[in-house]
Amino acid sequence: IYFRDLGPQLGWTMVFFAECIGPLLSYLLFYFRVPYIYSNRYAFTSSPHPVVLACACHTFHYIKRLIETIFVHRFSHGTMPLRTIVRNCAYYWGFSAWLAYYINHPFYTPPYGELQVNCALVIFVMCELGNFSIHLTLNNLRGDSRSRSFPVPTKNPFTWLFFLVSCPNYTYEVGAWVSFSIMTQCLP
Ligand SMILES: *[C@@H]1O[C@H](CO)[C@@H](O)[C@H](O)[C@H]1NC(C)=O
Ligand SMILES: *[C@@H]1O[C@H](CO)[C@@H](O)[C@H](O)[C@H]1NC(C)=O
Repeated sequence: IYFRDLGPQLGWTMVFFAECIGPLLSYLLFYFRVPYIYSNRYAFTSSPHPVVLACACHTFHYIKRLIETIFVHRFSHGTMPLRTIVRNCAYYWGFSAWLAYYINHPFYTPPYGELQVNCALVIFVMCELGNFSIHLTLNNLRGDSRSRSFPVPTKNPFTWLFFLVSCPNYTYEVGAWVSFSIMTQCLP
């Protein structure tokens, strides 16, 4: 018998929690303009632009992910190495801080028109719903962890992307963030 030391490990639920809590909270630090982030005279002021919409979308997204982690996802892998988690969290936390910094900045300039914001918002919401529908479909798929079957489109139109691609959850993910960028007109 050979033993291999995998080093420190964490369960997947814990991994998802660690990844999602960071962006959720760090974005809010920027939204409320906690002192020392921007110049002190902007501490706890609010932006004259409707950036509350972006904040709501961002917060909703990560709350959705946390809720899915608890109630929807079933994890077939046992654990993830601690070093990978540190890397993943650095990515998630860092990126949300980066985009929150610009969107809530005192010199932020909003998009040109309402139309741009509203269209992007509609696409964002559709993508969130689609992503959630796919996760529900995947969850209903696996009776026990041994047998695996292919996901198929159901009566829910959001799952019809299964006709075209095999991981529509990630298609919706891309769609959601592209529309978020268009909605805020912010590149990060
Ligand atoms: C996304 O979908 C793919 C394939 O349908 C699946 O393997 C993967 O686990 C899904 N991701 C999540 C977090 O459910
Ligand atoms: C879509 O699902 C993936 C995993 O399946 C997740 O990482 C991502 O955050 C979800 N995106 C949206 C927009 O909910």
